[in-house]
Amino acid sequence: MTASLLLASNRGPLSYDEDDRGGLVGRRGGGGLVSAVGGASEAGQALWVCAALTDTDRRAAREAVGGMVAPGVQLLDIDPVVFDRAYNGVANSTLWFVSHLLYATAESPVFDARSRREWRAYQEYDDAFAAALAAAAAPGAAVLVQDYHLALTPRQLRERRPDLRIGHFSHTPWAPPEYFCLLPDDVAREVLLGMLGADAVGFHSPRWADAFARCCVEVLGASYEGGVLQHEGRTTRVGVHPLGIDAGELRERAAQDDVQSRLPGLRELVGDRQLLLRIDRTELSKNIVRGLESYRELLRTRPQWRGRVVHLAFAYPSRHDLPDYREYTGAVQRVAREVNEEFATEGWVPVHLEVRDDYARSLAAYALADVLLVNPLRDGMNLVAKEGPVLSERGLSLVLSRQAGAADELGAWSQLVNPFDVGQTAEALHVALSESAEVRSARTVSLAAAATALPPAAWLAAQLAALP
Ligand code: G6P
Repeated sequence: MTASLLLASNRGPLSYDEDDRGGLVGRRGGGGLVSAVGGASEAGQALWVCAALTDTDRRAAREAVGGMVAPGVQLLDIDPVVFDRAYNGVANSTLWFVSHLLYATAESPVFDARSRREWRAYQEYDDAFAAALAAAAAPGAAVLVQDYHLALTPRQLRERRPDLRIGHFSHTPWAPPEYFCLLPDDVAREVLLGMLGADAVGFHSPRWADAFARCCVEVLGASYEGGVLQHEGRTTRVGVHPLGIDAGELRERAAQDDVQSRLPGLRELVGDRQLLLRIDRTELSKNIVRGLESYRELLRTRPQWRGRVVHLAFAYPSRHDLPDYREYTGAVQRVAREVNEEFATEGWVPVHLEVRDDYARSLAAYALADVLLVNPLRDGMNLVAKEGPVLSERGLSLVLSRQAGAADELGAWSQLVNPFDVGQTAEALHVALSESAEVRSARTVSLAAAATALPPAAWLAAQLAALP
């Protein structure tokens, strides 16, 4: 196959389970990328290259000719040890921690012989993507490489195929140079040089784009002017493309039976109280523990809200191969329990923490929310903040971390908070809960308009337009 549009990402649109008789059952995932590219790859117009994430995925990859598990979807069967070191060791425990400033630096990171092994695996894993892309791309094809898992791929691909037009897009924030330089010197350089192998790099926020450019200037000695980085005779454009929501598609999904059938149960749970909602993966950067502490602070300092609010906290499992994530899940459960022990009364449970992933129930909850809390420590974009206003029935108040990329576009109609400041967040919850229905619905109209400004198809088109 020679494709003229290719996409590369660690997690792809398909994952596999085994049924009772050992047969393979494919499942399609959701999200912005699937919405932007899924149609084109299904129609065979684009090739989506992604990694097999589990043993069952690897089996599916091996059983399909050339790993082509579906029209336009190629799964790479990467050695599980290499994959684990690259994905868990480098991508999720190192690059993710750097870009979200997650280290408690008194103790971590420590770069030693083990991290060297992991780094070599990451080089190999990125190179497996470069090899697959190089083999499948038509002359002059456009290749869009996604995220921190594949920082080295653009350069590795260019070495094999100088004719290709290559873009790289980061869905995460980017760290300022003084923090980025926690990485070993050669690793820091290689990450930046890898991405500069692209003709264009993209970010969700000007803040992350600016931090990346400053890293290139300070670490590599690149020059930066007018949104263009120059280094060693190569030119890379730095662009900002803030991914938004496809309102029509999301509303259509929310109108389906599985979502609608969740509404009565949720309505009963909330009763005549206000619904304070949060929806996240149980991810360190999402700041769920401080979110619950802010709610506790609200109930302690503003007793008028006791018995008048129900906090639904959906915290779905994520990255459970990493001990930090398992511990964090425990901390979230502990604080939720503490809040209930302190404040629950006969007919009122202050917090309902749900850890079972249920997309339909999340969509139903957006419709009913009065206040949506999105308080990440740092976030590339955050689509929860954008989905909520689009699906809200009566209008909602948004309490939003200023460290989320989404704050650039939604900040004007939100209560912006410093995510570390529990007292300030509690105060913002109080203001949000106190807002009138008129204020909420007027704000929600503006929030929804901003949230849908660059839907996935337009976002993809903008990345393509940035290529030479
Ligand atoms: C972030 C990243 C994505 C990643 C997602 C889920 O949003 O930017 O690239 O797919 O997290 O993480 P996971 O490790 O479960 O793929």
